[in-house]
Amino acid sequence: MRDYRIAWLPGDGIGPEVCDAARLVLDAAGFKADYVPGDIGWEFWCREGDPLPRRTLHLLKTTDCALFGAITSKPAAEAARELIPELRDQRLTYRSPIIRMRQLLDLYTCLRPCRAFFGNRLNYRENIDLVIFRENTEGLYCGVEFPKVPEAFRNEAGMDEIPPDAAISIRSITRPACRRIVEAAFQFAVRHGRRKVTAVHKANVLRATCGVFLECAREVAARYPQIQFQTANIDAMCMWLLKNPLDYDVIVTTNLFGDVLSDLCAQLVGGMGFAYSGNLGDKYAVFEPTHGSAPKYAGQNKANPLAAILAAKMMVEWLGETEIAAAIEKAVAAVVERGAVRTYDMGGSDGTREMAQAVARALHQTVHPRTHTALELAHHRPTEEEVSMRSAIPQRIDSHGSKIEELAGTGVHDSKGG
Ligand code: NAI
Ligand code: MG
Repeated sequence: MRDYRIAWLPGDGIGPEVCDAARLVLDAAGFKADYVPGDIGWEFWCREGDPLPRRTLHLLKTTDCALFGAITSKPAAEAARELIPELRDQRLTYRSPIIRMRQLLDLYTCLRPCRAFFGNRLNYRENIDLVIFRENTEGLYCGVEFPKVPEAFRNEAGMDEIPPDAAISIRSITRPACRRIVEAAFQFAVRHGRRKVTAVHKANVLRATCGVFLECAREVAARYPQIQFQTANIDAMCMWLLKNPLDYDVIVTTNLFGDVLSDLCAQLVGGMGFAYSGNLGDKYAVFEPTHGSAPKYAGQNKANPLAAILAAKMMVEWLGETEIAAAIEKAVAAVVERGAVRTYDMGGSDGTREMAQAVARALHQTVHPRTHTALELAHHRPTEEEVSMRSAIPQRIDSHGSKIEELAGTGVHDSKGG
């Protein structure tokens, strides 16, 4: 194994605790890396006026990938008040470091696996195993917003329908971005033995933007006749996911719809303590538990670290260390199934550290969780032997993003990551 350089971004609140827990498991699994700590989060906003300082962007440029914990963000008025006095009159705008990382590094896929670990009493149903591909760089999150309609817009056709004092957010959708996210979803389906891709949209109302997405999705799907393809409206999809969650396999959609569906699906398989994502580009990736900084639990050894541990597992897999990744996932499955160690959200009283230690112990035991075979039989999926873990998630092409400096500072005007 080569020695990897990982940008280590624990951030705020429970971020450091769950990252420490992930580190304990990575070490126990024999993953070797140089973890380089990076500054990110609220403290750096307050002290320096930037929650993602340039030195952190530089770190991202010179590492293989990043593991990110969580950050705190607050509404605009509070953000302005908490700046140190020297920075208060500089008209600084808080911009979400997560959204900036995604855009600056062109991390165009937000990959969210949602798998029900067998025996987790928080599962909505057993055997749910779906994967969401969310476009991560554009759509309603492109960051172009107007608190009221700009005068210049008034000359555009149809603008007289909009009251002049309306706030406007732009939903920008491009063909290349739609094609590559749908392509990523289909490639994943092929490599991972998945049977179906569902493209989620609202093209009957958002005719221009969702029209482009749907057209691109159909165009890409035509090249994969072996994979079943279907489309669904976002509203209906929320209903169907609750009614028949086992009917879905790979879901691909635009940014905001993907944000919403990702949390809905996370709750089907255990909620915030289990939800993790990879923000993947071709050259760089940032892995994260998707929960926030949960300030009320910070420093209490209480938060469930499984989301962070699974994010670390995905990181290792993306780096190509597929055996280690598979071992970590099996260990998590075994601990959940056994149910002897449970954090508060799982109905237990064990702490963050105890959960991490349990996973580390399970790594060293011969574990045969029922999860894999049960799941795969239920879904008529290929077994582990048939589908190599090597191709389970898209892996990086090369190291180091190239667009950081060029794009730095052009970011968005949002207040909070999604
Ligand atoms: P949150 O995810 O921090 O917490 C919401 C609730 O979920 C918590 O009170 C707790 O009950 C539960 N929870 C979260 N993580 C958990 C874990 N690992 N184990 C067990 N239970 C867990 O979301 P909230 O309260 O809306 O936001 C708190 C702060 O985090 C805010 O400043 C927000 O802006 C920020 N945030 C950051 C995100 C990120 O860094 N990716 C994402 C969401 C929110
Ligand atoms: Mg979200």
